[in-house]
Amino acid sequence: VSATGRAAADVLVDGETIRAVLAPGSTLLGTDVAASVDRVIDATGKYVIPGGIDAHTHMQLPFGGTEASDTFETGTRAAAHGGTTSIIDFAVQTYGQRIEDGLAAWHEKAGGNCAIDYGFHQIVGDVNADSLAAMRRLPDEGISSFKLFMAYPGVFYSDDAQILKAMQVSRDTGLMTMMHAENGPAIDVLAQQLVDAGNTDPYYHGIARAWEMEEEATHRAIMLAKLTGAPLYVVHVSAKQAVEQLAWARDKGQNVFGETCPQYLYLSLEDQLGASSDEWGAFEGAKWVCSTPLRSREEGHQHSMWQALRTNDLQMVSTDHCPFCMKDQKELGLGDFRKIPNGIGSIEHRMDLMYQGVVTGEITLERWVELTSTTPARMFGLYGRKGVIQPGADADIVVYDPNGHTSIGYGEGKKHHMNMDHSAWEGYEIDGKVDTVLSRGKVIVEGDRYLGAKGDGKYLKRGLSQYLI
Ligand code: URP
Ligand code: ZN
Ligand code: ZN
Repeated sequence: VSATGRAAADVLVDGETIRAVLAPGSTLLGTDVAASVDRVIDATGKYVIPGGIDAHTHMQLPFGGTEASDTFETGTRAAAHGGTTSIIDFAVQTYGQRIEDGLAAWHEKAGGNCAIDYGFHQIVGDVNADSLAAMRRLPDEGISSFKLFMAYPGVFYSDDAQILKAMQVSRDTGLMTMMHAENGPAIDVLAQQLVDAGNTDPYYHGIARAWEMEEEATHRAIMLAKLTGAPLYVVHVSAKQAVEQLAWARDKGQNVFGETCPQYLYLSLEDQLGASSDEWGAFEGAKWVCSTPLRSREEGHQHSMWQALRTNDLQMVSTDHCPFCMKDQKELGLGDFRKIPNGIGSIEHRMDLMYQGVVTGEITLERWVELTSTTPARMFGLYGRKGVIQPGADADIVVYDPNGHTSIGYGEGKKHHMNMDHSAWEGYEIDGKVDTVLSRGKVIVEGDRYLGAKGDGKYLKRGLSQYLI
């Protein structure tokens, strides 16, 4: 299955590379291909797809006084189990730090530890003369995108003047501007007022981060991008009004893109409000504290996200994998939702959760491949090597069994491979299962068995986005 169609075919892999895609039973130079290879993986009755590309992850991200609980080793291994064969993680330049030093620290964390290939976007947490100059050198490092934050004042936040200057670099270089579009200063006031009034439960995180704040910031980012001519990619879109902004700008011909995440397709603010457990009480809702937040199902946001994936108002699905345990991490926010580290871990489940959209008729099989692999490759300068099964491409291949079944969850006989003490996806049942995963020709997952090794994954130097105009 590709982004554009499906056919019965044999895929010939030679070393790390796809050599040919052949009609079943083909001969090559007079020899029977299947009879002359070292190994045959029988995918009869299953889908053969290009390996998933998760273009938004945060391994070992320092956040809220703690650090995301998956290392590059554990997180990429979990990704492999879930049919994802490449990630693009976010290297971080913190306030006061040089971009080069932030990037070097990320190479240090990831190098030699990954199960699958990995690239980096650059978070620019401090836009100043030095970092603006350093950004112009990012393409030489194989980095073709950077992320700015309109949220989190005092941490990663950029004001409009900084955004404008960074977007001018984006226009000049072709680096994709990725935007966390939420009005942070206004949100922080609302959050303070909620806490002052005694509303400290996790649920109020989503009340403070109102959709109006996402719509407003998305519009502001679009207008600044229009003014400067920068290509814009809005990350973790969750509000239907934010999608309307993207659709409006795209209809006017602006080079604007958006991704959503499985949590914004399936989970809701009402689910979070209703969450309670013996262990945590209403603080159970902390498992679903992420930014942008889960949105109200009554207001129809989830429905709009699925629709936007069909109409191409949104182009991709990434996880924003940013895992934290409840113990010692999420629980930092007991009594004050603002101190709950933001993030959900889903890297292992993205391909399954999106395949569920095929089963329920939300998207087609081809769109599943496009949203999870082909467009991510094109958007972030990996296409040809990744995101497609064709001669010359890396042999990153997933055999997916539509007749298999995946019970997602943690504990009580269930397990996952992410370094988390809970699952945000407890109880999700998937009609489908990752069967076999190849990373550059090596079988790294077979059934539930991991056959790879730490360090299999190599750094991906990326080119510019194919979507530049
Ligand atoms: O809650 C989230 N999304 N945590 C990760 C950081 C970010 O803003 O993507
Ligand atoms: Zn973000
Ligand atoms: Zn993120």
